[in-house]
Amino acid sequence: MEPKNYTDLKKITKIGVFTSGGDAPGMNAAIRAVVRTAIYNDLEVTGIYRGYQGMIDGDFTAMNRRSVSSIIQKGGTILKSARCLDFRTKEGRQQAFDNIQKEGIDALVAIGGDGTFTGANVFSTEFNIPVMCIPGTIDNDLYGSDYTLGYDTANNTVIEAIDKIRDTASSHNRVFFVEVMGRDSGCIALNAGVGGGAEAILLPEVNTGIDGLVEEIEFAEERQKTSMIVIIAEGDKNGGVYQVSKQVKEKFPHLDVKVSILGHLQRGGAPSSFDRVLATRMGYTAVNELLKGNTRATVGLRGTAMITTPLEEALNTKEFKLDEELLEIANIMNK
Ligand code: F6P
Repeated sequence: MEPKNYTDLKKITKIGVFTSGGDAPGMNAAIRAVVRTAIYNDLEVTGIYRGYQGMIDGDFTAMNRRSVSSIIQKGGTILKSARCLDFRTKEGRQQAFDNIQKEGIDALVAIGGDGTFTGANVFSTEFNIPVMCIPGTIDNDLYGSDYTLGYDTANNTVIEAIDKIRDTASSHNRVFFVEVMGRDSGCIALNAGVGGGAEAILLPEVNTGIDGLVEEIEFAEERQKTSMIVIIAEGDKNGGVYQVSKQVKEKFPHLDVKVSILGHLQRGGAPSSFDRVLATRMGYTAVNELLKGNTRATVGLRGTAMITTPLEEALNTKEFKLDEELLEIANIMNK
């Protein structure tokens, strides 16, 4: 691994770790890895509650190896999370910096999504504090890692839900419109749609439009399909799941149409094996990179290797994260 963003090596003695933004399965496993790697390297660790809000409020806790016992399998985050508006102000960040200085924290590991990365980048630049980020979000929408923490678990959760919905859909000959999370990303929709055998998938990144969906339904009817599952990513541009289902009902009045919004259940639950191992590798790498002098960067998985990417690059690069081949496969499997 060739890190790109190294600065003058400052001696780090105490790391502050926090989770911020939407929680994701695997965050606890990442906290555990950060704490244990830091302690192994004779560093102290402070847990910061509720992300940037806790930094502003001085809501800290000293962590040791035992503080992270039996959390690798737990969903959510023991350090809690928040979306913090005050951190967007200079006064808020100054307050946060004063608090972490008082606490003796001289480097940070931030676990979260793009809002967390943006905050970390600004804060680290303003106050010259070393920071490494770990991509933790079910959305899989960050540049710098093939997969974000929690994405694999969320896919498994959605597939389990689709299986259950399919049981009732086929019993009643119904068409279900299932909305899944992902903000502006269609990663969960595409992967869980393929894994759950969905008849159609609407994604923000691909302009299928209602007409495309109508064609899919006509085609399914020609094949005498009696029930269907249509997955709609929450960021889809066709007006939302209710609007889409309404338009379909207008075109096919004989269909028994139902809507199911999976919502926040997609964020919970025990992390999958993949997410636990990924989180552990990311936490370990984040601390070791800080110790080598790397800063203002995110850790990630490319292929099978751990890499780091400068935060500026991660924040400013738009990557099409849908697997093009999987898109094609989805269109063949639903025929
Ligand atoms: O970023 C994770 C995520 O779950 C998105 O998929 C979703 O759009 C959003 O967070 C929901 O945020 P909140 O929990 O604040 O309503």
